[in-house]
Amino acid sequence: MQGKRILLIVGGGIAAYKSLDLVRRLKEQGATVRAILTKGGAEFVTPLSFATLTEEKAFTDLFDLKDEAEIGHIRLSREADLVVVAPATAGLLAKMAHGLADDLATAVLLATDKPVLAAPAMNVRMWEHAATQRNLATLRADGIHFVGPDEGEMACGEYGLGRMAEPPAILAAIAELLGTPKATPRIVSGSGRSLAGCHVLITSGPTQEPIDPVRYIANRSSGKQGHALARAAAALGAKVTLVSGPVTLSDPSGVRVVKVDTAHEMSAAVLAALPADIAICAAAVADWRAADEASHKLKKPHEGNEATLKLTLNPDILTTLAKPGPKRPRLVIGFAAETENLIENAKSKRARKGADWIVANDVWPGTGAMGGDETQIHLITPQGVEDWPALSKDEMAARLLARVADAFAALRPAAE
Ligand code: CTP
Repeated sequence: MQGKRILLIVGGGIAAYKSLDLVRRLKEQGATVRAILTKGGAEFVTPLSFATLTEEKAFTDLFDLKDEAEIGHIRLSREADLVVVAPATAGLLAKMAHGLADDLATAVLLATDKPVLAAPAMNVRMWEHAATQRNLATLRADGIHFVGPDEGEMACGEYGLGRMAEPPAILAAIAELLGTPKATPRIVSGSGRSLAGCHVLITSGPTQEPIDPVRYIANRSSGKQGHALARAAAALGAKVTLVSGPVTLSDPSGVRVVKVDTAHEMSAAVLAALPADIAICAAAVADWRAADEASHKLKKPHEGNEATLKLTLNPDILTTLAKPGPKRPRLVIGFAAETENLIENAKSKRARKGADWIVANDVWPGTGAMGGDETQIHLITPQGVEDWPALSKDEMAARLLARVADAFAALRPAAE
């Protein structure tokens, strides 16, 4: 972040106070920040607060002749590495989508040739409104990047999606855009189709199956891949439900996260989240659970060195989701984690479980796929097997979701 120049546009929402914290964090990382406040933004936080923190003049009015003469909106928009709009209110997003330029902030946004990152913040009904969703789809197609919004309690007392992403999440998105543009979905998404209006249901992480109050059966899944898929789906504009087993990862922004422990809980949460248009089962669900969960801590036997644990099969969530019926998502994707005969096992898994696509990956300990940051997959579809190169889990997720968006667009006319 050292030496990077951020132009921060502050819209008129209560979340504007969080942008002061964002400025502080950016400055700590060595970035320089210039702030422009919309008229509404200046009602919530003062230009003086931003001027103090940025150590630069905070700009507000397009028709301040002195500034236009000295610096001007074109120069302001060009003398930045990245433009960040936080909070991006419904009104500001609507103006951006329509190319309106009736104040300094919107004139700069129209004039800029730099990447733009928007952190939406608004009431949940405004977020869900068809007009806002249309504007978001337009802006995504224009190449605007988004972080958030988060789900939670709102200043107006309602609950839902619409809270501005927290400053650390915005900072991470800024770092990603400035540092590794290759990893952003915009670059790898091929046709650039959006998933606006689609509900994508994703399972992620391991499950934990209790043996007694202190012990459980689990596996080495980190949830990194499932969470990356949720981020990538949200980045393409989908409404995302992520049903996650116990992981140490933070919740992806702009995604509804349902946290569970056991396979049974995951199955119930998945069924409760239906209907969905697309389902991706990335969780490493424990196949087995203890047949009789002990209510007290099991004691070692007094004689002999052996103990027997009786197991019983867990419900297969992917198989349940893929069963033909009115609630079946149009596209059902499973994963096949294998340590041998990868392609053959994955192909038969696709047929056995009724999935449309299977993402096959070798989880032999030496590959580092389980728990690591990289993955090399083979995508198995009815058309054949595609061998993908080794990619970061974020890149793989962006690429897979771009494929999903293309496939779903092809399916759509049949549904209507
Ligand atoms: N899966 C599921 N519910 C289960 C078990 C697996 O939804 N109870 C899903 C996983 O999320 C994954 C796919 O099924 O998408 C395959 O998981 P995998 O562990 O590779 O297969 P298994 O079902 O364990 O089959 P096998 O024992 O033959 O490896």
